[in-house]
Amino acid sequence: MSDGPNTIRMGATDRGIRAAVALLRRGGTVAFPTETVYGLGADARVERAVAGIYRAKGRPARNPLIVHVADAAAADALIDLPEAGRAAGAAFWPGPLTLVAPVRDGAGIAPICRAGAPTLAVRVPAAPLALDLLRAFGGPLAAPSANVSGKVSPTSADHVMEELTGRIDGVIDGGDCAVGLESTILGFEDGRPVLLRPGGVTVEALEAALGPVAAAGIVEDAAPSAPGQMTSHYAPGAALRLGAEAPRLGEAWLGFGPDPARGSAIARNLSPDGSLEEAAFNLFAHLRLLDDLLGGRGTIAVAAIPARGLGRAINDRLARAAAPR
Ligand code: TXA
Ligand code: MG
Repeated sequence: MSDGPNTIRMGATDRGIRAAVALLRRGGTVAFPTETVYGLGADARVERAVAGIYRAKGRPARNPLIVHVADAAAADALIDLPEAGRAAGAAFWPGPLTLVAPVRDGAGIAPICRAGAPTLAVRVPAAPLALDLLRAFGGPLAAPSANVSGKVSPTSADHVMEELTGRIDGVIDGGDCAVGLESTILGFEDGRPVLLRPGGVTVEALEAALGPVAAAGIVEDAAPSAPGQMTSHYAPGAALRLGAEAPRLGEAWLGFGPDPARGSAIARNLSPDGSLEEAAFNLFAHLRLLDDLLGGRGTIAVAAIPARGLGRAINDRLARAAAPR
């Protein structure tokens, strides 16, 4: 049913959640808001349902999915977390943190979610609507970001509809996502935490709770790639020029902090006050808007973002969006 021409838009109400649950129980795909970005959900226990996610996004089959559950106990039933993983869950769930650990025997998750990996990525989201949906559904939901593979992640129901109308069964409209950047992904090596993707929980917060966190390779694309070459992801149509001091003639401008008029007709500011939280909230929506105004061509010049707190995740997404395609 994922290939039907109609995508139902549901309200953030009990009625909307009931309709979403009905679609999910029939093996459908339904986008829903989390505090990070909108996810494209399907029943994680049903291979055919999860296959609908890969189809709708055009996602490579080698790229595994995050499974969302309603609480840490449900996560514990799916994966075998080391001590540090339990501590991380206790400190940051529900919230923008994903933990990767060996899947338990009998977890009942469709293997397609793991794309061949022995580990499974699990997250307990904090957005009340996401938790309401998970409880009403009564099972685990596989959910990657609800965008076409490789494109900018969606932080509103409109973003989801722009790309996936006719390709998914529905979307629950819960307004804008509060954090605006994907979850932090944490794996473990010999029981020690390893950062797989910077995100909504800062490294500073993780280290305050867990002690040192090692930095690892990045997981956005499991395909072998030339060393030092980042895989394009989170990419608008326009090119990005990062760390810019000002736009050049014809470029759009994405500023950060006090930003005197820069002489570009097409300009946005991630946070005039220099707040990294506000910048994270605005990042994907501003990138989409500037890209639309440029007609998906040309260049967006982007101001330097401080490499601390959420700035690390922002810079990670910008670097991927700027990577060669
Ligand atoms: O905030 C988020 O994490 C959002 C919301 C919807 O929860 N989801 C999200 O999903 O960003 P997605 O699919 O866009 O990114 C998930 C990342 C991918 O880079 C994938 O390769 C990685 O998680 N991943 C999933 N399972 C993994 C595993 N077993 N080992 C390593 N990486 C894994
Ligand atoms: Mg994604």
